[in-house]
Amino acid sequence: MDPKRGVSIALLLLAVGVSAVSAQTFGQKKRTPKPYEYGDVVMNNFSAAKNMAPVVFKHWTHRGRYTCRLCHIDLGFAMQAGVTGVKEDDNANGLYCGACHNGKEAFAGKAKLLSRSTESCDRCHSLGKDKDVEKRFADFIRGYPTSRFGNKVDWLKAEASGLVKLKDHLEGISIKRKTLSMPANEQIKAAVKGMPDIMFSHEKHAVWNGCELCHPEIFGVKKGSTVYSMQDIFDGKFCGACHGRVAFSNLDCQLCHTKEVM
Ligand code: HEC
Ligand code: HEC
Ligand code: HEC
Ligand code: HEC
Ligand code: HEC
Ligand code: HEC
Repeated sequence: MDPKRGVSIALLLLAVGVSAVSAQTFGQKKRTPKPYEYGDVVMNNFSAAKNMAPVVFKHWTHRGRYTCRLCHIDLGFAMQAGVTGVKEDDNANGLYCGACHNGKEAFAGKAKLLSRSTESCDRCHSLGKDKDVEKRFADFIRGYPTSRFGNKVDWLKAEASGLVKLKDHLEGISIKRKTLSMPANEQIKAAVKGMPDIMFSHEKHAVWNGCELCHPEIFGVKKGSTVYSMQDIFDGKFCGACHGRVAFSNLDCQLCHTKEVM
C-alpha cells in the first residue's frame, strides 16, 4: 500500500474515531449484515436438492454456550461455510449437529409421523421460515454488555463477568488434553507510522479458541513467521479468519489498534 495513504487512514482513524469510513478505503466487500444475522452460516450442500429448506446455523445462539474450540476442533466443523458436508445420517449417528441435538443436550429433529409435521425439522431447515428471529434476538441481547458492530454484543465482557458460561467439553466426544503453558501477550507492529500497534492477548483468545484453532494452521509456531497485512485481514485471512465473520467486526479498528506508538 502507498505509505501516504496508510498514514492518512491512520490519522483519520485517530482524529475522528470513526472506523466505518476508513474501512471503505480498503477493499471491503458486500453489505453489512444485521446484528441478528452476523455470524450466520447458510448450509445448503444437499438440502434444497432433497426438497428441504437450507439450514441456517446461527453463531449467536451457540457461542454463548460453547467454546469455538469445542465445535471447530472436537466436533470437526470447518471454519469455512459449506465445507463440512454434514448429512442427516451424520446427525442421526451423533456427529456434528447431532452431537448435541439428540433430545438431551438440545432438541432433536424428529418428524411427527402421524401429523406429518416437520416443525422440529424446520427449526434448523429454516431459511426463509424464521419469522420471529428479530424479536428473539431483541430478547436475547437484553442484559448483555453491548459493542458497536457485529452482533452488538461485547462477548469478552459477557464471558468475563460470568453472564456467559462456556462449555469446552462434551461427554464421550472431547478428550482430556494437557494444558499448555500460556504465552505472553504479543505486541504486533502496524507497519504504518502513526497507526497504533496491536496488543494481542493469548490468554483472552485461549478462553474461546484454545490453541488449536490458530496453531499451526492460521499462525505458524515461530514468532514472526507469519507475514500479513490489513488487507489480508479484511479478506478473511489470519485475524480475519474469525474477525469480521464471527468474532468482533474489523470495522472496530480501535479494539485491535490499541497501543499508542509515539
Ligand atoms: C439440529 C439441526 C437439524 C435438524 C433438527 C434437522 N436437520 Fe436435516 N440437516 C441439518 C444439516 C446441518 C444438514 C446439512 C445441510 C446441507 O448442507 O444441505 C441437513 C441435511 C438434511 C438433508 C439433506 C442431506 C441428506 O442427508 O440427505 C435432509 C434430507 C434432511 N436434512 C432432512 C431432515 C429432516 C426430515 C428433519 C426432521 C426430521 C431434519 N433434517 C432435521 C441439520 C438439521
Ligand atoms: C455449536 C457449534 C459452533 C460453535 C460453538 C462455533 N461455531 Fe463456528 N461454525 C459452526 C458451524 C456448523 C459452521 C458452518 C460450517 C460449514 O458450513 O461447513 C461454522 C462456521 C464458522 C466460520 C466460517 C463462517 C463463514 O462465513 O465462512 C467461522 C469463521 C467460525 N465458524 C468461527 C467461529 C468462532 C470464532 C467461534 C467462537 C466465537 C465459533 N465459530 C463457534 C459451528 C460452531
Ligand atoms: C455443542 C452443542 C451443539 C451443537 C454442535 C449444535 N447445537 Fe444447536 N443448539 C444447542 C443448544 C444447547 C441449543 C439451545 C437449546 C435448545 O433449544 O434445545 C441450540 C439451539 C439451536 C437452534 C435454535 C436456536 C436458533 O439458533 O435459532 C437451532 C436452529 C440450532 N441449534 C441449529 C443447529 C445446527 C444446524 C447445528 C449444526 C450445524 C447445531 N445447532 C449444532 C447446542 C448445539
Ligand atoms: C486467536 C489465535 C491464537 C490462539 C487461539 C493462540 N495463539 Fe499463539 N500466537 C498467535 C499469534 C498471532 C502469534 C504471533 C505470531 C507471530 O508473531 O508470527 C502467536 C504466537 C505464539 C507462540 C510464539 C510466541 C513467542 O513469543 O515466540 C507460541 C509458543 C504460541 N503462540 C503458543 C500458543 C498456545 C500454547 C496457545 C493456547 C494456550 C495459543 N498460542 C493460542 C495466535 C494465537
Ligand atoms: C480463531 C479465531 C480468532 C482469530 C484467528 C483471531 N481472533 Fe481475536 N478474538 C476471537 C474471539 C472469539 C474473541 C472474543 C471476542 C469476540 O468474539 O468478539 C477475540 C477477541 C480479540 C480481542 C479482544 C481481546 C483482547 O486481546 O483484548 C482482540 C484485541 C483481538 N481478538 C485481536 C486479534 C488479532 C490482532 C488477531 C490476529 C493476530 C486475532 N484477534 C485473531 C477470535 C479470533
Ligand atoms: C482483528 C484485529 C484488527 C482490526 C479490527 C483492525 N486491524 Fe489493522 N491491523 C491488524 C494487524 C494484526 C495488523 C498488522 C499486520 C502486520 O503484521 O503488518 C494491522 C495493520 C494495519 C495497518 C498497517 C498497514 C497494513 O496494511 O498492514 C493499517 C493502516 C491498519 N491496520 C488499519 C486498520 C483500520 C483502518 C482498521 C479499522 C477499519 C483496522 N486496521 C482494524 C489488526 C486489526
